[in-house]
Amino acid sequence: MKIFNSTISEIIKLHDNINLIKIHSPEIAKSAKPGQFCNIKVSDCNFPLLRRPFSISDVDGEYIYFMFNVAGEGTKLLSSKQNGETINILGPLGNGFNFETEFKSAVIIAGGLGVAPFPFLTKKINNKKIYAFIGGRSENEIITHGLENCIISTDNGSVGFKGNVVESFKRYIDKIDLGNAVIFSCGPTPMLKAVQDLSLQYKIKCQLSTECAMACGFGICQGCNIESAEEEDKYKLVCIDGPVFDAKEVKL
Ligand SMILES: Cc1cc2nc3c(=O)[nH]c(=O)nc-3n(C[C@H](O)[C@H](O)[C@H](O)COP(=O)(O)OP(=O)(O)OC[C@H]3O[C@@H](n4cnc5c(N)ncnc54)[C@H](O)[C@@H]3O)c2cc1C
Ligand code: FES
Repeated sequence: MKIFNSTISEIIKLHDNINLIKIHSPEIAKSAKPGQFCNIKVSDCNFPLLRRPFSISDVDGEYIYFMFNVAGEGTKLLSSKQNGETINILGPLGNGFNFETEFKSAVIIAGGLGVAPFPFLTKKINNKKIYAFIGGRSENEIITHGLENCIISTDNGSVGFKGNVVESFKRYIDKIDLGNAVIFSCGPTPMLKAVQDLSLQYKIKCQLSTECAMACGFGICQGCNIESAEEEDKYKLVCIDGPVFDAKEVKL
């Protein structure tokens, strides 16, 4: 993990409120793994004080990509950056997905901006059968950029299956050989909890990319606790022990 001043190459609008930022960062590109994140300083002054964490969405040669929506001041500042500007990035941070195990098919389950880490993962596992269950509240939240074999769902039914992404996946439980599959999931915590419950019930291998409020991003502030499911009254840190955890490891 190191700090780099990197150059913004392009900001691409994927939807009204969703952007893909392309940054020239050869060092991070070389060492990044899918599921890892970077802590980005979104302004040159002291406001906002804290860096903002973003999943590494993709890597292409010497370039890295982040997918983000405008949620508050930090992401608003990020979206207003210009091509050629320098941006300060700390990373890559955390543990990514473990995709080097034996499995035949990958089941991606992503809610909203939870799709962010999956273009990079998809690239790394393109020799496997991939089912990508992508859900959002409405069509405006559906991003399939960099993904394969997408099965779409929306809460309001504006596109794809009408219902949440976990209900969408449940319709396929009997159709996929889940004995040889791994679920990779990222999204809001209630969605991750439903995926976790399902994976434990059906004994499907499952890795969850969790989110929480973060400050330092590298284990110093102790501000990103998540309760261990394996040891009573023990906690893990999302930034260094995660953000990706085995579904059996943590309580959501
Ligand atoms: C490991 C990790 C990876 C992430 N990857 C991405 C990504 O790839 N793309 C992306 O758009 N966002 C991602 N996030 C969330 C992102 O960091 C926040 O959206 C961002 O910090 C918001 O900053 P802001 O200043 O714009 O909003 P703020 O003003 O700080 O907050 C605006 C709103 O967003 C909520 N919020 C802030 N941080 C989080 C969070 N971590 N989880 C849930 N809600 C939050 C706040 O409660 C508030 O309601 C990630 C977070 C973590 C911890
Ligand atoms: S964000 Fe500081 S310890 Fe995790």
